[in-house]
Amino acid sequence: MKSTAIANSNIALIKYWGKINEKLRLPANSSISMNLDSLWTTTTVEFSKDLKKDRIIINGIDNGDEANRVSKHIDLIRKLAGVTTKARVATKNNFPESVGIASSASGFAALTLAATAAAQIKIAKKELSILARLGSGSASRSIPSGFVEWKKGDSHQNSFAISLFEPNHWKIADIVAIVSDKPKNVGSTAGQKIAKASPFFKIRLKNIDKKINQIKKYIKQKNFARFGELIEAESMELHAIMMTSTPPLIYWHPETLKLMACVKSWRSEGLPIYFTIDAGPNLHLIVEDKNIPALLAKLKNICEVKKTIVNHPGGGARLIDRHLF
Ligand code: PMV
Repeated sequence: MKSTAIANSNIALIKYWGKINEKLRLPANSSISMNLDSLWTTTTVEFSKDLKKDRIIINGIDNGDEANRVSKHIDLIRKLAGVTTKARVATKNNFPESVGIASSASGFAALTLAATAAAQIKIAKKELSILARLGSGSASRSIPSGFVEWKKGDSHQNSFAISLFEPNHWKIADIVAIVSDKPKNVGSTAGQKIAKASPFFKIRLKNIDKKINQIKKYIKQKNFARFGELIEAESMELHAIMMTSTPPLIYWHPETLKLMACVKSWRSEGLPIYFTIDAGPNLHLIVEDKNIPALLAKLKNICEVKKTIVNHPGGGARLIDRHLF
């Protein structure tokens, strides 16, 4: 059977950084995210007796660098479903690889849903999130819809993500401002391994549950100012941990700092916007819908911003009928 799934990417508002179990991708802390409706991956999977080995095409490239990681993920699903045949997989992002936006969250969420459906196993959302987590931690959060919490749990079976609020709960947007499209030197898997070396990591973990409770409250109340202050401070803390790891990890570029300064100055002029930054140089600018035009107008004049992508809260991973092959 051939199955195709779509999954949106997500932006972490309270970040996942550091694991207590590398193999199972059990995180050191819970995290909160929002799905991004303009950024998604489409994946088609078909198991076939005619194949001697998996055939994996990612963004048009046959058996590229990531093919092995995809095959390994499919092995887990084969084991679960009792399937022994090889798979044909095609996967495509609707955003160019080169814009420097991570695709592992949407990628492994779409792959998990498409592969389990192709293997004809019916599993609950919770199990899908657990499986997606094994491919990439943040992928667990792209299975449920809207505003999401990944509860860290302490075992394989209880570390999964759930939806807190549906996408229409709050009219806010994440405008991704691309300042660099160069691939990063250190990926998030490698970066997370050295997080514990930071002297601030322990302090972060001590305060994280309080932050999780606060952000949930602010999202529920739609308190944009408190929400924005918290996500911006959280993102600075994440990068402080990265910069004080051994060896230090610096994802920011000069353009990142320039835009951070712009955000601060636009805010002081009365435009309520806040930023968050993942493991890369690009900023995610969080803004209420009513202020999108004003922010886009400002960004147009900043030559460091190469491209902007406007996202609203997105839905969860879903099956579709349009196959890629
Ligand atoms: O899921 P990974 O291994 O790509 O790690 C994601 C790490 C951050 O994007 C920096 C934070 C997060 O929670 O998504």
